[in-house]
Amino acid sequence: RLDVTEVFHGISFPGHLHTQESLQQAVEFQFKDTDILIVSYPKSGTTWMQEIVTLVSSRGDPHLSKSVPNWVRAPWLEQYYFAEVLKASSITPRVITTHLPHHLLGRSLHGSKVKVIYVSRNPKDVVVSFYHFHKIANFLPEAGSFAEFLNRFLEGTLHFGSWFDHVKGWASQTATLNNLLHVTYEEMSVDLHGAIKRVSSFLQCPLVEEELSSCVKHCNFSNMKDNKMVNYSLIAEEILDHSKGSFMRKGKIGDWKNTFTEEQSRYLESVLRSEMQDCNLEFVWE
Ligand code: PPS
Repeated sequence: RLDVTEVFHGISFPGHLHTQESLQQAVEFQFKDTDILIVSYPKSGTTWMQEIVTLVSSRGDPHLSKSVPNWVRAPWLEQYYFAEVLKASSITPRVITTHLPHHLLGRSLHGSKVKVIYVSRNPKDVVVSFYHFHKIANFLPEAGSFAEFLNRFLEGTLHFGSWFDHVKGWASQTATLNNLLHVTYEEMSVDLHGAIKRVSSFLQCPLVEEELSSCVKHCNFSNMKDNKMVNYSLIAEEILDHSKGSFMRKGKIGDWKNTFTEEQSRYLESVLRSEMQDCNLEFVWE
């Protein structure tokens, strides 16, 4: 069976990619000051940011992004193959990805100058994207009905834990860490050029206009959907059932409207109001 679960500090993770050892080594990981860490709750724009960071570090040259899979050039810290991939890689600076919440990584980041890019997305689009992904990913539990899935999302019992804790935990760090950049999926959708410029200046890798426009071109939705190094078509059919849908599904803001009922939308908003009281984040819904 593929859909085994690994529980770590009360949070469940897909067991085919995570072990107690791999999760433990993640929380104890010693970052280098030159590392770039992409952090996100699943389905918030992780792959998009991996592509942006690769392209920015390559000054708009698509060679690396077209020849090395994203999980090799920006491996997930908590997955079992991480140490091996990182050791074999000669890519500099090192780009590392994680879905871990801040309360699990805070200790290893303390005092480090690693550049953290936190990516978030409005929770209605996150839950819809995650729901569809559960239908194609054989390593995730049964999605059930959308109503059931939404309840699990809101109570924080899906794999990778609570979306609220994730966003609150990392967003609260923007005020205290000057090496953390918060970028939203919606910002990338509305102004990809501006978002890439912000990332490049944060990474202290300013680009000339020609390099910037090459980054924009190569990481737009249709080009990424066609790039097998990021569209997950290289993953075996028994792990990702490509006949049921694609990883690069719609790539839009506001697709939640095709799945949510009015009542579900009001319900999510009421939970959001009470969970996010102390967090003055605003969301773009459409
Ligand atoms: S994962 O599994 O956590 O790594 O998923 P993640 O990459 O965070 O999120 C997948 C969603 O991001 C969309 N995506 C994009 N949207 C617009 N433009 C670009 N270039 C892009 N790349 C990825 C992808 O389609 C998933 O969203 P949905 O809404 O399901 O289409």
